[in-house]
Amino acid sequence: MGISWTDPALEADARDLARRYGLALADPGQDATASTEQAVLVLTPERLELRPWGASHGSEGAVATEFVGGAEGYRQRHPSPGRELLSRAVLGPRKAAELTVVDATVGLGRDAFVLARLGCRVLACERAPVVAALLEDGLDRAAAQRSAGEPFRFELLVADARDVLPTHPHHVAYLDPMHPPRRKSALVRKEMRVLRRVLGADADADTLLELALAHAQLRVVVKRPRHAPPLGERVPQRVVEGRRVRFDIYDAGRN
Ligand SMILES: C[S@@+](CC[C@H](N)C(=O)[O-])C[C@H]1O[C@@H](n2cnc3c(N)ncnc32)[C@H](O)[C@@H]1O
Repeated sequence: MGISWTDPALEADARDLARRYGLALADPGQDATASTEQAVLVLTPERLELRPWGASHGSEGAVATEFVGGAEGYRQRHPSPGRELLSRAVLGPRKAAELTVVDATVGLGRDAFVLARLGCRVLACERAPVVAALLEDGLDRAAAQRSAGEPFRFELLVADARDVLPTHPHHVAYLDPMHPPRRKSALVRKEMRVLRRVLGADADADTLLELALAHAQLRVVVKRPRHAPPLGERVPQRVVEGRRVRFDIYDAGRN
């Protein structure tokens, strides 16, 4: 995966990102259709974005992390059934401030951001450097808007969760692995389609669940498409069900 930039003034920042995330430098003037890559990261004055190659030279179809503006910013600030379900599944009867949650598959961080805003301490793991770079960019922009003193405990670890779960004590492990495409793919969010093309499905998710079950102090929560079988065919102790997704809950020490 390469990184490019839209303005000569951004070259130093793009080079810094390339160094920190182990990305190649892509020639900003390169013809997008000539690449064999699926997508390219592009640093613009506003944000870092992942642009599918061959789509266009502009931002159309691009994926970026946005927690403050746009539709996601609105969702983050207003109550929604999805957030309510996530909070019920992860918090249970506990207060958010008491909980350390490892989000083992943080991706673009929407769920983790909700949990941190609720007050949980979140350790967020992402093993794909390109996704971690997008998330860091969104977190930085959100931090610039946060009022001083507002509690927000969120640590991004660019690591495989299999190395983090055994070494970082936590109450709850949260898993939302990338699943194989569904037939009704039009319903899948645009950015998930782009990310799936770049990353593929998380074929090792079953083993991640086994590891999570061995290390969480209170529970493991797995987000699934509503009609999908449980991860690893493991029957959860409880389920919190929504219209499109459900949360399978496994209590620690009962598996
Ligand atoms: C479906 S996305 C998660 C979406 C996320 N819940 C959100 O709200 O935006 C899954 C992500 O988990 C990452 N992932 C999968 N297995 C992982 C592992 N063992 N360690 C770290 N990251 C992992 C993938 O690279 C992908 O970015």
